[in-house]
Amino acid sequence: MGYKVAVVGATGNVGREMMDVLAERSFPADEVVAVASRKSQGVDVSFGDKTLKCKALDHYDFSDVDICLMSAGSAVSREWSPRIAAAGAVVIDNSSCWRYDADVPLIVPEVNADAVAGFRKKGIIANPNCSTAQLVVVLKPLHDKARIRRVVVATYQSVSGAGKEAMDELFAQSKAVFTLDEPQVKKFPKRIAFNLIPHIDVFMDDGFTKEEWKMVAETKKILDPKIKLVATCVRVPVFVSHSEAVNIEFEEPISADEAREILQDAPGCLVIDKREPGGYATPYEAAGEDATYVSRIREDPTVDNGLVLWCVSDNLRKGAALNAVQIAECLINRRLIEAKRRAA
Ligand SMILES: NC(=O)c1ccc[n+]([C@@H]2O[C@H](COP(=O)([O-])OP(=O)(O)OC[C@H]3O[C@@H](n4cnc5c(N)ncnc54)[C@H](OP(=O)(O)O)[C@@H]3O)[C@@H](O)[C@H]2O)c1
Repeated sequence: MGYKVAVVGATGNVGREMMDVLAERSFPADEVVAVASRKSQGVDVSFGDKTLKCKALDHYDFSDVDICLMSAGSAVSREWSPRIAAAGAVVIDNSSCWRYDADVPLIVPEVNADAVAGFRKKGIIANPNCSTAQLVVVLKPLHDKARIRRVVVATYQSVSGAGKEAMDELFAQSKAVFTLDEPQVKKFPKRIAFNLIPHIDVFMDDGFTKEEWKMVAETKKILDPKIKLVATCVRVPVFVSHSEAVNIEFEEPISADEAREILQDAPGCLVIDKREPGGYATPYEAAGEDATYVSRIREDPTVDNGLVLWCVSDNLRKGAALNAVQIAECLINRRLIEAKRRAA
């Protein structure tokens, strides 16, 4: 007997990608239900070669749902995830609402799959921020080899990370520039077309942004609380895929060649690192792919035991939808959940 899966936020960037990932991976679902806000009730959503009619969250009964993949933002998750979990479904949430709750596991399956069993306390599992997910996939195998002491990361994050309206804004502004109209600024604090913005999420008292803070807190929770990390998060005029320039200091020596070999065998990583023009991955190539691409691996001559590298991944896939589906697969493969009996 297969599982019943509900995708809440099915009309959004992440939700649509979840539908594609579930279909591509032949997820063992008997039924997949698309759910969004009341305004999307009846809207068509693609699932493989089928078209599903979207249901409204307010009216949906989750009592026979096994797994709920949630990507409708923090406010919706705060109100609905506990209710859906109380109805008996395991909620895998993409928002930041539950990530820092000690009773909610924060999972990247390549890194801390064993922690998934902790879902029983609240019935909720959190998916990390997109920029953290791809980073920890790369850091984990290097940490196992040489113990990471400190990470300095600069991100180059695509507009799809801010939702479908943000993608429309980059498109509309770019068009306006070419047609000599005034680009309209709505979603972002400044123009994003042919520009970049060193500010994602709200400012905190210490001058860091919440997006930068999330990378610190989430890396500690997923990988190792002892790792020190400092981030600068930047929004760039790219539609899909986040890129990161990463400086890593280790306790033990590790050469660029050793790191390259380790990463070549690491789950979720794909090394493209030829020291020649074009011998590295860019966001365009990573879009639509599952891997986190690692390039430009080199030794940092300014610190003891330091490496520098570049990593790129599709933020809607590894950064959100793919990771959430992998978490669901983890629950099933480890026999942590069973499909509910449903009337035929
Ligand atoms: N984009 C990324 O790279 C990424 C990565 C990691 C995590 N996340 C997180 O994933 C979540 C979704 O992001 P997104 O990029 O997919 O946003 P999005 O494109 O703006 O989509 C938002 C989705 O939420 C639904 N929704 C909004 N209000 C709702 C309500 N009151 N009841 C039910 N459904 C509601 C929307 O439905 P309607 O169409 O009906 O309004 C839509 O399906 C956010 O929490 C985001 O932080 C995103």
